[in-house]
Amino acid sequence: METNSNQPTVLIGVTGCIAAYKTCEIVRQLQKASVRVKVVMTQHATEFVGPTTFRALTHEPVAVDLFDEAGAPVHHVSLAQECDVFLIAPCTANVLAKLANGVADDLLTTTAVACEAPILVAPAMNVHMYEDATTQENLRMLKSRGVQVIEPKVGWLACGETGKGALESVEVIVAATLNALGLKRDMEDISVLITAGPTVEPIDAVRFISNHSSGKMGYALAKAAIQRGAQVTLVSGPVALEPVDGAKMVYVKTAREMLAACEENFEEADVAICSAAVADMRPLHASDRKLKKGSDDAQLSTIALVENPDILAKLCVMKREDQLVVGFAAETDDLVENGKAKLARKHADMIVANKVGDGKGFGTDDNEGILITANNLIEVPSMSKVRFAHAIFDAINSLEA
Ligand code: C5P
Repeated sequence: METNSNQPTVLIGVTGCIAAYKTCEIVRQLQKASVRVKVVMTQHATEFVGPTTFRALTHEPVAVDLFDEAGAPVHHVSLAQECDVFLIAPCTANVLAKLANGVADDLLTTTAVACEAPILVAPAMNVHMYEDATTQENLRMLKSRGVQVIEPKVGWLACGETGKGALESVEVIVAATLNALGLKRDMEDISVLITAGPTVEPIDAVRFISNHSSGKMGYALAKAAIQRGAQVTLVSGPVALEPVDGAKMVYVKTAREMLAACEENFEEADVAICSAAVADMRPLHASDRKLKKGSDDAQLSTIALVENPDILAKLCVMKREDQLVVGFAAETDDLVENGKAKLARKHADMIVANKVGDGKGFGTDDNEGILITANNLIEVPSMSKVRFAHAIFDAINSLEA
């Protein structure tokens, strides 16, 4: 499982309740939204679902005991500091009571006391335990301290009774967690086509022309769109990045392959974003064997080039009224002027003009730039590429409205 500094982290606390099996699905759904998930369990929870299950799902160590990790003597503090949201689901009456009263007698509850991130609890228990005055008082105390309670549903409970006490649905819990992370789900009916990375244009069987694009911006766009609920097709040149979970990945090498993949997927797309650094030129003749120094000097010393198709410009010609096409302009100076010129020349709906050079742009984890549309300029200061991607989608969504 890929983790990086741009990924928000949710720590899930699992307590001893039959609904613990549903937490496996919560883990998967959060991961689909590009969230890193870590799990801490109470000893009782391990009677319902084994730590190995969560370890396999998260590819992270699963903590149970306060003294589990020899290398991390203050594990509760590191877990608490690492997470952006602490979700406790399912949360038993016992753990609710401990949380309400600051009892810290195991790793999960100690972590909760040490945690400064937002805490969400999704209680699940027998209806009478839920309605009991102590549970209700504990819930009131927790709410008054800012803990978000995801109320249980009325349902058929494991004990055979029907009443309020069933864990809320995975969808509702996941949506509340994403909301607490500040991630919006505002692109659920939207299909996005993204190009990313460089293209490579062969000279012969072993040599090629390419550029330094890492693909990080395009992949960040794909992750951000998935976090917001969109369907994503990511057309990627050769990069050293893990596939984006939840995206339809289409791997290509040359500009012409990238164009063919875009043409094939554009019809379905509501939004296309061309963030790839497409090689402007390709060798006119690509030898299918390795050219040899000595015998092929004439071909090696002068490589005739021919222009590649401009994918962004082609999509802008193909685009229907209900589709939006966004391009990038990597500039060292005059961002606004050059970006506006590109917007007009390519007939795009938006150009993301971003600074390159001076350690900015290619290969970095951060980006900054100006989002240019026909009648608006939005300056985006330096931030992680995933946050930058969210700023782009905020602007796209306001264009659509
Ligand atoms: O024309 P220029 O390369 O400066 O424009 C950059 C924008 O055009 C980027 O969005 C890039 O993905 C796109 N582009 C393209 N096909 C090309 C060249 C650039 O889609 N052949």
